[in-house]
Amino acid sequence: MSGRSDALPTRPVSASRVEMTKLVLPPHANALGNIFGGEVMSWIDMCTAISAQRHARTSVVTASIDAVNFLLPIKLGHIVVLKSQVNAVFTTSMECGVTVWSEHPHTGELRHAVKAYTTFVSVDEYGRPRPVARLLLERDEDRRRESEARARRASRVALREQLRAAAR
Ligand SMILES: CC(C)(COP(=O)(O)OP(=O)(O)OC[C@H]1O[C@@H](n2cnc3c(N)ncnc32)[C@H](O)[C@@H]1OP(=O)(O)O)[C@@H](O)C(=O)NCCC(=O)NCCS
Repeated sequence: MSGRSDALPTRPVSASRVEMTKLVLPPHANALGNIFGGEVMSWIDMCTAISAQRHARTSVVTASIDAVNFLLPIKLGHIVVLKSQVNAVFTTSMECGVTVWSEHPHTGELRHAVKAYTTFVSVDEYGRPRPVARLLLERDEDRRRESEARARRASRVALREQLRAAAR
């Protein structure tokens, strides 16, 4: 790990909020007229990368994408709205949360279609992890998300340890 941690700025969760809007076109959809899961994952990666970047104001890399839950299909022609923010900051990494909504193009009805969490690592010019800005929790919702993110992080760290042990 590189960089100084004593002069880190603090930024509020609100500074990391991103809303991204896409339209489901034929190249994004399968033969059933539903969007490919991989397409949604790429939009999730992009939306949350911008959240991480807005928080860290450094280069960031995707370390993992977990708990992607496809709750309902998103149809060809629908508008897709992704909303993300940084949930929690650790030392060099941060968890982002994203919700994906399917908007009916005629009625405007919004349905919650996907939920996911991503972890980004702040890196220096050599790709080495560097300490990330601190997160200011302003609202009860921010505090709830941060506490849930810490629990998920504990599971991730435990899983990585298991994978490392199995690889030895
Ligand atoms: C992510 C990466 C920078 C981690 O580097 P590393 O040398 O393994 O660093 P460390 O083990 O010291 O971990 C650094 C941080 O990353 C976190 N991390 C590493 N792997 C992780 C994973 N799979 N999931 C979540 N967090 C992870 C660690 O918990 C640590 O966080 P902390 O400092 O907040 O505690 C490195 O593995 C990498 O560059 N991966 C490729 C990233 C990339 O190219 N992504 C694009 C998609 S291919």
